[in-house]
Amino acid sequence: MALTLTIVSTKGGVGKTTLAANLAALLADIGQRVLLVDADPQPTLSSYYPIADFAAGGLTRLIVDASAEGTVSRTHIANLDIVVSDDPEGRLQNWILHTPDGRVRLRHLLRRIDGRYDLIIVDTQGAVGPLQDAAVLAADLLVSPIPPEILSAREFARGTLAMLERLRPMAALGAPVGPLRGVIYRVDRTRDARGIAGELRKESYAESRGGITILDAVIPASVAFREAATRREPVHRWDRGRSLEAMTALGAELLPHLSEDLFRFAAAPKGAEQEGGEA
Ligand SMILES: Nc1ncnc2c1ncn2[C@@H]1O[C@H](COP(=O)(O)OP(=O)(O)OP(=O)(O)O)[C@@H](O)[C@H]1O
Ligand SMILES: [Mg+2]
Repeated sequence: MALTLTIVSTKGGVGKTTLAANLAALLADIGQRVLLVDADPQPTLSSYYPIADFAAGGLTRLIVDASAEGTVSRTHIANLDIVVSDDPEGRLQNWILHTPDGRVRLRHLLRRIDGRYDLIIVDTQGAVGPLQDAAVLAADLLVSPIPPEILSAREFARGTLAMLERLRPMAALGAPVGPLRGVIYRVDRTRDARGIAGELRKESYAESRGGITILDAVIPASVAFREAATRREPVHRWDRGRSLEAMTALGAELLPHLSEDLFRFAAAPKGAEQEGGEA
């Protein structure tokens, strides 16, 4: 069965889309069959990588028709498909809000198409709403990029805890909220990241009783992420140094069952991503 990861934050602009796109491509390059789902009405993820084969529809069609038929597009990266965001006016939010099974429908639909994939990665918008709820409830594992300043990190902690608490009762409807992994993201100095991780582990997360873990892996602030995005390329292919290393460490900590494959891939000589991609 596929594992669904939802990238979520109650804050905008923290790096969700960049993280979703790069994590997905790295996992595709080690041979995992990966499906991206763009659950942000602003379709940044949908155009992150070139599309090789467009489906007729996207997320609206998937959720409203309750069928995956004609909703999965193929990216030019081997093993990486995507359900694009096709809702520029944000109508889907309202539809989900007013449909009895609205918030749990995505969860059930993804579980139905997951035989074709090893991993499903859902990107969300940085604001609370019915579509964000649906994406959170679809997840086996939640991943949150956390800004490396203590004040925004604390604000993040409060917002995220509130969101998780609000959705907690959905467990009774067969949609338990998955555990959350916080990633200190866009870090200038590793020393600061360690301090913040320590603080967060100590104060804000104590009350979540194990539901939230702050990962040891951190993602550096690096122009490589922006350069790779401009070239519409995964960052690990563009910068096979620090970016590959950081993304590999993150992937391995999030998905321990893939850590051997990830580290083997990272150690392989240049060009190995092609082999990995077709494996
Ligand atoms: N590791 C990084 N280092 C430097 N810049 C980065 C990094 N990751 C992302 N960025 C840049 O930060 C900006 C915001 O990133 P991104 O769009 O991924 O955030 P987001 O959380 O998806 O935003 P939104 O809430 O608007 O959807 C982008 O310009 C991106 O190129
Ligand atoms: Mg985004």
